Amino acid sequence: MAGDSGWIPANLDPARPSSARIYDYALGGGHNLASDRALFEQVLKVQPNARQIVWSNRSFMRRAVLFMMDLGIRQFLDLGSGIPTVGNVHEIAHKVDPACRVVYVDIDEVAIAHSKLMLEHEDNAAIVEADFTRPGEVLGHPETVRLLDFTRPIGLLAVASLHSVPTETDIYRPLERYRDALAVGSALAVSHFTADFEDVHTQELIEIVRAGAHNQVCARTRDEVLDLFGDFELADPGLVTAAAWRPDTAPAPDGGAAERGLWAGVAVKVRR
Ligand SMILES: C[S@@+](CC[C@H](N)C(=O)[O-])C[C@H]1O[C@@H](n2cnc3c(N)ncnc32)[C@H](O)[C@@H]1O
Repeated sequence: MAGDSGWIPANLDPARPSSARIYDYALGGGHNLASDRALFEQVLKVQPNARQIVWSNRSFMRRAVLFMMDLGIRQFLDLGSGIPTVGNVHEIAHKVDPACRVVYVDIDEVAIAHSKLMLEHEDNAAIVEADFTRPGEVLGHPETVRLLDFTRPIGLLAVASLHSVPTETDIYRPLERYRDALAVGSALAVSHFTADFEDVHTQELIEIVRAGAHNQVCARTRDEVLDLFGDFELADPGLVTAAAWRPDTAPAPDGGAAERGLWAGVAVKVRR
């Protein structure tokens, strides 16, 4: 049910920021509340380049989808898809091939409500409301079964979403379930927040989000992020910063230092 603003679900607590809405605000979207904006302003005080980091992630996602399409992939499962803003996976993919199929997965009520509206007349894409740490629910969901053919390669995306899962929750086993379900030729794209760069004020950022939002953000090391790919083979240039992954523009004069903060990579399933 919608509240006064149309897109605000009636049961939403407006005082409690969510990672989906904070991210929407950081990208310049319109589906966020005063509490989300206030939290992101706190983030900016600690990490003035936070918006650039967020944008470098969004651009990585676009390049990862196009890279997967170059591999021949025509179907996508997007774990933690967020509030639709400009350049969603089905929009990127449909520009190349309108027959591409996309299943979005999210748990945030605003992301769900807005995705449903956006996809109302879209036969080849759907949103699944589920916790992606429960792969059985995602993989067995009627929309996943309707849209995705698991005998053919699929592009699995976990872009800036796994770091919302608390470190005490196992994300490796769920990821393994997803990887196992995919056919050879499939690919996995991951970007993940990290404490590996000393110019990112990781601990302060984690504390700000933990104190204010109903989700968390957790940092993982490069090795911990590498483990998410299992035995999939990393495509060049390997696991690098989101900005450095196959950039389609020349690097900034500082070598992309302003956009450090996330590890990003794409790996391909080469064996059963
Ligand atoms: C920062 S947004 C990233 C959006 C998009 N993937 C991108 O990179 O542009 C992370 C999204 O993951 C979702 N999310 C976090 N934990 C989740 C979970 N356990 N199950 C499903 N969605 C989750 C959040 O609701 C949020 O919309």
